Amino acid sequence: MTDQTITSVSRESRVFKPSAEFKAQANLGSEAAYKRLYAESVNSPARFWGRQAKDFLTWRKPFSQTLQWKTPHAKWFTGGMLNAAENCLDRHLGTARENKAAIIFEGEPGDIRTLTYKQLHREVCKFANVLESLGLRKGERAAIYMPMVPEAAVAMLACARLGVVHTVIFGGFSSEAIKDRINDCNAKLVITADGGWRRGKIVELKESVDRALSSSPSVEHVVVLKRTGNTVAMQEGRDLWWHELMAAAPAVHKAKPLPSEHPLFILYTSGSTGKPKGVLHTTAGYLLGATMTTHYVFDVKETDIYWCTADIGWITGHSYVVYGPLSAGATVLMYEGAPNQPAPDRFWEIIDRHGVTIFYTAPTAIRSFMRWGDEYLAKHSLASLRLLGSVGEPINPEAWMWYHKMVGKKRCPIVDTWWQTETGAIMVTPLPGVTPTKPGSCARPFFGVVPKILDENGKEVRRGEGGKLFLTQPWPSMLRTLWGDDSRFKKQYWSEVPGLYFAGDGARFDKDGYLWVVGRIDDVLNVSGHRIGTAEVESALVSHPAVAEAAAVGRPDELKGQALVCFVTLKGNQTASDELKDQLRAHVAKEIGAIARPDALRFAAALPKTRSGKIMRRILKEIAAGGDVKGDITTLEDFNVVASLQSEE
Ligand code: WTA
Repeated sequence: MTDQTITSVSRESRVFKPSAEFKAQANLGSEAAYKRLYAESVNSPARFWGRQAKDFLTWRKPFSQTLQWKTPHAKWFTGGMLNAAENCLDRHLGTARENKAAIIFEGEPGDIRTLTYKQLHREVCKFANVLESLGLRKGERAAIYMPMVPEAAVAMLACARLGVVHTVIFGGFSSEAIKDRINDCNAKLVITADGGWRRGKIVELKESVDRALSSSPSVEHVVVLKRTGNTVAMQEGRDLWWHELMAAAPAVHKAKPLPSEHPLFILYTSGSTGKPKGVLHTTAGYLLGATMTTHYVFDVKETDIYWCTADIGWITGHSYVVYGPLSAGATVLMYEGAPNQPAPDRFWEIIDRHGVTIFYTAPTAIRSFMRWGDEYLAKHSLASLRLLGSVGEPINPEAWMWYHKMVGKKRCPIVDTWWQTETGAIMVTPLPGVTPTKPGSCARPFFGVVPKILDENGKEVRRGEGGKLFLTQPWPSMLRTLWGDDSRFKKQYWSEVPGLYFAGDGARFDKDGYLWVVGRIDDVLNVSGHRIGTAEVESALVSHPAVAEAAAVGRPDELKGQALVCFVTLKGNQTASDELKDQLRAHVAKEIGAIARPDALRFAAALPKTRSGKIMRRILKEIAAGGDVKGDITTLEDFNVVASLQSEE
């Protein structure tokens, strides 16, 4: 977020009330109802959540206790048994939903496919049988590295049906990143595709998997979906074609009843230190969070065509492309490719073609649309839209207003939803039939969420003042631990102020109690809505033989929110050159994925450090932003370093 944006955010005073028309049809349409439910959710959480879990989920065996809380470990709905896939599929069968579209898919080349709930159920049952025939058992891990095609959802739900824990790896990650994730959770199976379409080109997924697997001994089989038709190497005995397995698989499969706390998935995300962390979500609490927020925040109705543009490789794709909307019985639109393929109006074309009613995307995408020009919207009516959402980073008021006017035609409420991989579901958001919205603010807490903003000493700040954002009450969809590293889980989230969940974000409440999230205040960057750990980028850089030391920082960027700037010192025998610069940027992309390719890389004779040897990132941030170095630099070891860095570019 730029300084200019922060200023404009703190000056923002416009308020937009939900229309009477929207209110009248909303799943929750009155302030009094929100207040009553919210008060109950924080004052009598066991009663509140117990009732929601019964209302929103279908149980094989009722739970006996709503919450066991021994900070920071939560167990929700213990004694209960259920299955997430059964909640997303089977329970809609035999009802009017059975033959409605569960997924409407549009591929980047223009191929369109619809799967009704009944058809999706059939595919998932078959694939669950495939997984069983490959020897996958409850509790074992399977990695999914796929394009945005319905089979990705089929794979996730088939795992859930068996209690196999899935870990979806974003298709843009490199083979190094795949290898790290597979090895961290000892995945037994990888589900992938020959490739996926992106900007008219094939992203060769199978090839990346092959490279990863040369050092991933836990993997026994790879199932390969044929999507793009490019030639792939199939390793005898290890690699199997999706379509061949499916042709032979029975279509009947009974979902396994699983305990509420059975692990549903691991999703790796960047943290402030070391390698990505495996955030673990479990069955009942996660599904309740995803389902309930889909109902209240997206106001989903039987007739909606709901489109969340996130890739299933991110938490937004898990909760709001797959689990939330399918559990709620919605029709989900799924699009495979880039927003500007073949032209910058592809999204608007899709909205009109399929009659999308609810549209959920990221500020970085909105800013790209703004830049591409209003003429691309003018060609389309967008009349079907009734609700818009935003997620992933703070939305600047300018982008919010553009979204409101140009996409929502001033008619659609905007829900700016704050949440994280770790929270599993939306935590702070307007409710579209209730909450007046302010451009740039994610408004008020969802049920059961109690955010607090604390200063350096753990003291609550006054309204209007900024500080660190904490959540003070356990919630059902919270992460349970980090896979294989409970001590890191405790340290990372629960030790900043003992007993409270530290979100890693800076924020403030305004006079009306609205939350304004400023962005990450730990060493995590948010580049185009993607979380990138500076430590990961730095370790990728120093793994290159030419590099002695590296520091990665964020620079405000109009389009991406933050851009990634790296400072590098070279080993004694190396010479700086543009060629080496390009090599190092490519090296980071190879180690992590193209999303982490540095926007800028600068060679430095030395990095600014404290006397105890810690890199002073604050100074580098100021240098990267092109401003003067302000603030205290008395702890700096060598003052000349700053001067020489500033003179370099
Ligand atoms: C940021 C994505 C401001 C925030 C769901 C958070 C936001 C991180 C918003 C989590 C929002 C997400 N307003 N900032 N509406 N939504 N963020 O884990 O910094 O990929 O900590 O989850 O994104 O990113 P993650």
